[in-house]
Amino acid sequence: METNELLEERQGEVFSGIALDQQPFGKRFYIESYGCAMNFADSEIVASILEKTGYSVSTDYETADLILLNTCSIREKAEQTVRARLKNFNAIKREKPETLIGILGCMAERLKKKLVDEEKLVDIVVGPDAYRSLPALIEEAETGQKVVNVLLSREETYGDIQPVRLDKRGISGFISIMRGCDNMCSFCVVPFTRGRERSRNPFSIVEEAKALDKMGYKEITLLGQNVDSYKWEEKMEGQTATTNFAQLLEMVALVNKNIRIRFSTSHPKDITDEVLFTIAKHENICNYIHLPVQSGSNIVLERMNRGYTREWYLEKVKRIREIIPDCGISTDIITGFCGETDGQHQETISLMNEVQFDMAYMYYYSERPGTLAARKYLDDVPEEIKKSRLTEIIDAKAKSSTGNNEKDLGKTFKVLIERVSKKSDDDLCGRNDQNKIVVFPKGDSKPGDYVDVEITKITPQTLLGKIVKQYPSTN
Ligand code: SAH
Ligand code: SF4
Ligand code: F3S
Repeated sequence: METNELLEERQGEVFSGIALDQQPFGKRFYIESYGCAMNFADSEIVASILEKTGYSVSTDYETADLILLNTCSIREKAEQTVRARLKNFNAIKREKPETLIGILGCMAERLKKKLVDEEKLVDIVVGPDAYRSLPALIEEAETGQKVVNVLLSREETYGDIQPVRLDKRGISGFISIMRGCDNMCSFCVVPFTRGRERSRNPFSIVEEAKALDKMGYKEITLLGQNVDSYKWEEKMEGQTATTNFAQLLEMVALVNKNIRIRFSTSHPKDITDEVLFTIAKHENICNYIHLPVQSGSNIVLERMNRGYTREWYLEKVKRIREIIPDCGISTDIITGFCGETDGQHQETISLMNEVQFDMAYMYYYSERPGTLAARKYLDDVPEEIKKSRLTEIIDAKAKSSTGNNEKDLGKTFKVLIERVSKKSDDDLCGRNDQNKIVVFPKGDSKPGDYVDVEITKITPQTLLGKIVKQYPSTN
């Protein structure tokens, strides 16, 4: 699945997989990933660990020996999706009881052993920091045992594992630069499912970027729940050398100037001018920042424990636009959080109108057991009100993205072509620097090429245009 779709779906829904060359002999596993891009990247680590033990990846779950679901817990619906999916495997277990079914990721971590008790089909439950133990657990499960390993770690980054790339188009790749989160936003389950924040050795990140370059990749997205707090410290000759996110970004950008660099997610309280100047300095670091605001009301932001105010956020947006004038900005919004009044909801709408986001991922609040909010506040906004507020938020977003897209009419953008358009085989589709989707007639270009596209038409979600320049293929 495409990177942009991955990022669009990254907060809880399905993206499935997956193909690689299949070995004719030996055992096969099938893996499906749900949730954020970090889960997708983790599935590539899991694939690498399993391939080393002789398993090969399969696209067909009906014939696979091992079915893995890499799951998400961010909202209740994400968990329901996985539980519904598990029902599809009933028939397989009935016909081939030796097929093993494993749950990986955040749901595994949140529910632990409860998952094997509740879901009778499940044989293996493994949390995000325990993937190295998968081969041993599979062996144990083959003897008929139910096995669980959900130990979280303060050190594990899988930095030494070269991921097996599961998206066979080979244009956009993810690199996890850190794991976990120390922020404790009151609504969020991630600190509980992913554990403490830890950063990965920058040299292993650069090595992975070089490997993607060698494989012909054209875009790299650096991943972390809060990339701006990336920090690597190393003792060298009695002194401590520190690498921060801005420095890491530059190190990766220098690997090959023909590879686009993106990153996700930035936290408004932590993004620095140094990061902004680094983006402005390097042509191949995309002028696009995903900056989740969650709410426009200071009272709600405080209750969410986000660590910034509406004014701080607006100041950050101003600074971004000063340093990177054409920067695309997107956000995440949660509506109907505990105690949110209509007036506070209106403050979110007014913030959206003020910022004019290019894109937004919008949700209504879903209480997650064990979180700070679940323990401290009442989930007291009725569902109909959550839904009607969400509709207003979606409308505000549609207005701002249409307005912003209109300003792009007549402009020319450099686009990395990712795929053939879903609507017509004669059209190609890619994204510009600002992460906007651009669709245009293919001419003699192909996925993986860069082209300049002049925008002649827009929709609220897409820019449409024609190729005005082709760049020579670099691979
Ligand atoms: N680390 C990222 C976000 C990870 S979760 C950040 O801090 O921005 C992705 C998004 O899911 C969040 O930004 C939030 O908008 C949404 N989300 C998280 N928990 C949620 C919940 N309990 N209910 C509804 N949406 C939630
Ligand atoms: Fe969750 Fe907040 Fe951490 Fe993002 S920064 S993962 S929303 S706790
Ligand atoms: Fe979901 Fe876990 Fe990512 S809860 S959003 S898969 S970190």
